[in-house]
Amino acid sequence: MSERALHEGKLDRAQTLSNTRMKGNYKTISVTPVTPVIGVEVEGVDMTGDMPDEQIKELNHALANHNVLFFRDQPELTPTQQISFAERFGELHIHPAAPKGEEHPGLFVIHTHAGSFVNNGADWHTDVSCDEEPPLGTMLQIHRTPDSGGDTLFANMYAAYDALSDKMKAFLSERTAVHGSERAFRGRYKDKGVDDTGAVFPKSEHPVVRTHPVSGRQTLYVNETFTDRIRGMAEEESNALLEFLFRHMARPEFQVRFNWRPNSIAFWDNRCTQHLAMWDYWPNERFGHRVTVKGDRPFYKAH
Ligand code: SIN
Repeated sequence: MSERALHEGKLDRAQTLSNTRMKGNYKTISVTPVTPVIGVEVEGVDMTGDMPDEQIKELNHALANHNVLFFRDQPELTPTQQISFAERFGELHIHPAAPKGEEHPGLFVIHTHAGSFVNNGADWHTDVSCDEEPPLGTMLQIHRTPDSGGDTLFANMYAAYDALSDKMKAFLSERTAVHGSERAFRGRYKDKGVDDTGAVFPKSEHPVVRTHPVSGRQTLYVNETFTDRIRGMAEEESNALLEFLFRHMARPEFQVRFNWRPNSIAFWDNRCTQHLAMWDYWPNERFGHRVTVKGDRPFYKAH
């Protein structure tokens, strides 16, 4: 296939995808695409109240179809309000390495300031893919933003998969990869008072192509923060393939870049996205609360 034909094929797919999304017939929320490929702004949700089941169902649907939901019209949520909202989507996931508050062990404080020596989520990743059952989704509210910068970039892993050749898709669909967390977590939370001497961090094996349990679509499931190795390949082969996939996934056409305002919320689907938190605002401060919902074991199902 010529380069041009390939490109046209991709545009067709993107157009079809965007048309399908626009038809989403929501009754309880209003959904406005931020890009044709990934991310929608959602209105009509009151996270401080008791939301009807119908609205949770629609949000679940929107999450699987648009990859990341942005909310601009929320007040600063208390930990209890944020946790109660997240729990409507499933049980909370407890981070295996980050510090946990006694009162709310499921609440992960995101705080980077002049004294920080590391920023959470600074490389492309999907949350905690080293777990056997990695989180379904993550909800982050940033309470305090720097005057500029501190954006989060999200990338659509359905689109990254769709843009591969059929031969590469077939090859990858038979592969699994090892996701470790030693690299990502060892010493990572020292500045927040965590002594991880003797800690054993999770490591799991997952399909390289994952079938999304809600949408049924295939999605690429390797990331540079956690994925160490493609199973059954020589180290050099695995490194070369992973390097290609990491570059491919980070192509700007699969991305949306979210510029936070105080109390904005992003709720992303870890099964079909990756994200990266940009640390371009030092020595300024960025502060927020993150809660994560448990997911199921990744699987691949041929279509
Ligand atoms: C994360 O990776 O969960 C942090 C994202 C962010 O701070 O924007």
